[in-house]
Amino acid sequence: MSSYVVTGAAKGIGLEFVNQLSANSSNTVFAIVRNKNKAPNVEALERKNIHIVQADCTDGRALLSAAEEVGKVTGGKLDYLIANAGGSNHPGVTMDGFATPEDLEKDLIDNYKFNAISTAHTINAFLPLLKKGSAKRVMALSSGLGDLDLTLASGMLAEPSYSIAKAALNMVVAKYAAQYKDEGFVFLAMSPGIVNTGADATNPGIAAEMKMLAAGVPKIAPDFKGPITPEVSVKMQLEVFNRWTVEESGAFVSHMGNKVWI
Ligand SMILES: NC(=O)c1ccc[n+]([C@@H]2O[C@H](COP(=O)([O-])OP(=O)(O)OC[C@H]3O[C@@H](n4cnc5c(N)ncnc54)[C@H](OP(=O)(O)O)[C@@H]3O)[C@@H](O)[C@H]2O)c1
Repeated sequence: MSSYVVTGAAKGIGLEFVNQLSANSSNTVFAIVRNKNKAPNVEALERKNIHIVQADCTDGRALLSAAEEVGKVTGGKLDYLIANAGGSNHPGVTMDGFATPEDLEKDLIDNYKFNAISTAHTINAFLPLLKKGSAKRVMALSSGLGDLDLTLASGMLAEPSYSIAKAALNMVVAKYAAQYKDEGFVFLAMSPGIVNTGADATNPGIAAEMKMLAAGVPKIAPDFKGPITPEVSVKMQLEVFNRWTVEESGAFVSHMGNKVWI
């Protein structure tokens, strides 16, 4: 029997983690959502081994309360943490495309808070429980866009602040890995591939980002067949996460377990 915390669980990839992990009735899965009263997709799974817990992942204090709530159920332990919450506000512009310096700064700070700082808050909040757990495994959702080599090889211009923030998240993960290797922890920064989570393509920012992404994809993946489903991505991510070793802790890899991002 294993316990899991998944953040950003109301929809998309996070919801699919909750779905696949809770399918094993001996697992206990804590779905962290922003609003407990607005998690219909998690409720629709109708599984007794899912606990819905509320926390905004940019709020370190809210995460501490969430960890306390989880600890009450598990007897102060946690086996696995999946820090999935994150994303972009899709500005649809390049690094030099912001209307004002203030717009650029806001976008950078927002993305940093939502992707890098929130990951550190999440890990810090659950570390005391993880130390008492039996698996000691933490995976944080990054993105291939945070990879220097992908950016240079593809010329992908999309999502500048998000890409920078995910690169920072990778270092957050490496710092924890370096600190906790001797205690047998596995930390992993995971890119899930390009996953169809139903993003609204009529949103002008998203449409512009997609155009920029599409221009870069053929340069690094000429045989790209289109986005994968959350189901396929999560299955592949869990396979990599479960086989990752303490010696390899702190790496940044894709759902394929290497540096092939799409
Ligand atoms: N989809 C892809 O192709 C792709 C590619 C690379 C990386 N990723 C990464 O994979 C992760 C999941 O992406 P996704 O595509 O599944 O995203 P998504 O469909 O936008 O879902 C994100 C989930 O996170 C929740 N969330 C948003 N802000 C939050 C906050 N401050 N605190 C707690 N939860 C919050 C959202 O809650 P609400 O429902 O309340 O809005 C939503 O349930 C992200 O870290 C993303 O950067 C995705």
